[in-house]
Amino acid sequence: MRGDPMQASSKISAPLSHTHHRNIAMLPAFFPASLIAAKRDHHELTDEEIGFFIQGFATGSIPDYQMSAMSMAIYLNGMTPREIATLTSEMLCSGTQLAWPNDGIPRVDKHSTGGIGDKTSLILAPLLAECGVQNPMLSGRGLGATGGTLDKLEAIPGFRTNLSLDEITRLTQSIGCVITGASAELAPADRKLYALRDVTATVPSIPLITGSIMSKKLAESLDALVLDVKFGSGAFMKTREQATQLAHSLVNTGKRMGVRTTALLTDMNQPLGRMCGNAVEVLESIDILKGGGPNDVRLLTIELCAELLISAGIDQTLEDARRRCETLLDNGAAFERYCRMVKAQGGDPEAALLIAPGSDLVVDQDGIVSSIDTEALGLAIIALGGGRKKMGDPIDHSVGLEMLVRLGDRVQKGTPLVRIFSNSPEQVTSAIRDAIQIRDTGITPELIVERFA
Ligand code: URA
Repeated sequence: MRGDPMQASSKISAPLSHTHHRNIAMLPAFFPASLIAAKRDHHELTDEEIGFFIQGFATGSIPDYQMSAMSMAIYLNGMTPREIATLTSEMLCSGTQLAWPNDGIPRVDKHSTGGIGDKTSLILAPLLAECGVQNPMLSGRGLGATGGTLDKLEAIPGFRTNLSLDEITRLTQSIGCVITGASAELAPADRKLYALRDVTATVPSIPLITGSIMSKKLAESLDALVLDVKFGSGAFMKTREQATQLAHSLVNTGKRMGVRTTALLTDMNQPLGRMCGNAVEVLESIDILKGGGPNDVRLLTIELCAELLISAGIDQTLEDARRRCETLLDNGAAFERYCRMVKAQGGDPEAALLIAPGSDLVVDQDGIVSSIDTEALGLAIIALGGGRKKMGDPIDHSVGLEMLVRLGDRVQKGTPLVRIFSNSPEQVTSAIRDAIQIRDTGITPELIVERFA
């Protein structure tokens, strides 16, 4: 019986109010349980079957318990590249997509799978705008141990992260970039599905992660997208193998959906840059926007930018693109664009940010920094109040950590390891000490290990 569409005997009511491409009344009706059984039994679902399920879930005709069962079947048995692209497209079509004039200006964006100290978005958006492309960057809040771009930017007094769709399109065109939260109208099926996955043990599924990330990004109606897929102790994907699979799936799906998509596989076995937290990361981003700052963050931001400049046809070679980025960071142009973006979003780019008092944690033995439990550092920031223990918790933007050593560094008893910005650093000192292993040997890992195109 599988795959037999049962023609609708009664019309499915309530067509989606804000769907551009799908009219659910036009889709054949199926038995939801038969489609769950098909995925359970390792069959490939057709485009119509996936459309029926996702649009039904988005509009409420497929209840949460059937979507939960389908998510678990997908988690256990996977999906083919075609199924993943269809899933993404259906999630995308559950909401509005940004509309741009036909003016030849490329619209581009970056997505990072998240890490500790990852502040590249704050630098990349104005840098891209300065390079002549536009970046309507839709970002998120902290997830698990990782920080979120919106939480960081809210350390700036007055900065608004809840721009309307109209403000997103207007400011992207006038300033060249915005960084804001995804509005509820974009890919609403993802918001609903993510909440369900979170409580049904179905988050770590490559097809579901791909559909979730790509539906939100592609709702921006982009010409090019770059993905920073991280692996290691501070990443969502702990192993290089898992991250490689995810990178393939994301790039493949972007290409199938007509968007020039590349990915960089990057190491997250230690924080990116020195600063981890909210206000401290904004300050480090400003240093980089003014041509200074730690090398690793500068290098990664330039590489991500260069990928997009090639995809968007602005530069012909990676060398040219890198040189363009270096110049715009070093001559202050990217910083000026950042100030315009912050002002346009209600913030004061010159405001002095509040930072809690710093105290140094020192090494108690000689040796080499051999491993860092980066996730534990992210959890320490949450414990200090810099992230949320539960939804809706307020954030203390003034707390954070500064890494004073990196993997492979030789240290001696008494060398400062980490500066803790907090009024009560003692609550995390033993967790941080445990997170940083000093041994006889250790290596400095490469930051960018592979490129997928
Ligand atoms: N980030 C997302 O946006 N979705 C996922 O499913 C996982 C990480």
